[in-house]
Amino acid sequence: MIVLERIAAVRARCDEAVRAGKSVGLVPTMGYLHEGHRTLMRAARAENDLVVVTLFVNPTQFGPNEDLASYPRDPEGDARVVTEEGVDVLFAPSVAEMYPRPGLTHVTVDEVTDGLCGASRPHHFVGVATVVTKLFSIVGPCTAYFGKKDFQQLVVVRRLVEDLNLPITVVGVSTVREPDGLALSSRNAYLAPDDRPAATVLYRALECAIATVKEGERDPVAVRAAAVTLVEREPLAQFDYLEVRRADDLAEVEHLDDGVEHVIALAVFLNTTRLIDNATFTVDGAAVHYDLPGRSPVAQEH
Ligand code: PAJ
Repeated sequence: MIVLERIAAVRARCDEAVRAGKSVGLVPTMGYLHEGHRTLMRAARAENDLVVVTLFVNPTQFGPNEDLASYPRDPEGDARVVTEEGVDVLFAPSVAEMYPRPGLTHVTVDEVTDGLCGASRPHHFVGVATVVTKLFSIVGPCTAYFGKKDFQQLVVVRRLVEDLNLPITVVGVSTVREPDGLALSSRNAYLAPDDRPAATVLYRALECAIATVKEGERDPVAVRAAAVTLVEREPLAQFDYLEVRRADDLAEVEHLDDGVEHVIALAVFLNTTRLIDNATFTVDGAAVHYDLPGRSPVAQEH
């Protein structure tokens, strides 16, 4: 494993690999790496010759009142993780390397950024889309791995790759969870021990929504209402949003049609910590196919 801080050095390595007919796998991250990030790395490692992980806490995707300054960091621990996962290159640029002067060029992806997290984080996805496009430009043709945990981000990235004809294959990887259902996130580090049990409210709301669909409900308003009621019953949780959308383009839907993939996505505050989660599902006659794993038996006993 080699740590590179300069764009030119990463570009040279990746160009060399592509010229030699090798495949490149890219895993963009903001560090403080956990099992979710490791799962992306394992997928990249299994499918590519050269694996590049990027570690950059991108300032342009944080709002003025958000947690840029306090975002958890552990560069040494991160270097250990990428070494353990057999990653070839860790690209860890400084802010000055990525933004030598304030950028005048921004990547704006319309419509799919309108609601959900885009509503409470207005400039967030411009920051994400711009930095991801820069990383794609630096690394070049590759397969890029993103978590479904940040579902709207995945849709944004897929769409910018399609619209800008970038030579990138985007792979979405299933969400990794704690045994009690809480999706792993670097921001879970902010949760006070007293708030931690209530953090399962996101998973419980998703379970409730999926159960409602399994019972035969096909009206997204009714599915949403069932899950919202559950969140509102959790005294420590402050509701941000909960929406049922078409998965492909996050369009609003009036009916859960057969054969169409949908996503139920939510964001909840526990004190000042904002957590997000989602589950995708497809109705198939009376059956429902969904990607929400059951909780482990140990956690259910609690
Ligand atoms: P970060 O939050 O560090 O996440 C890096 C990648 O890990 C993202 O693709 C995210 O969806 C994925 N991930 C996070 N938690 C996961 C989990 N529990 N299971 C599976 N995958 C998970 O997302 C970002 O960084 C940034 O916005 C970035 C894309 C790097 C641009 O700055």
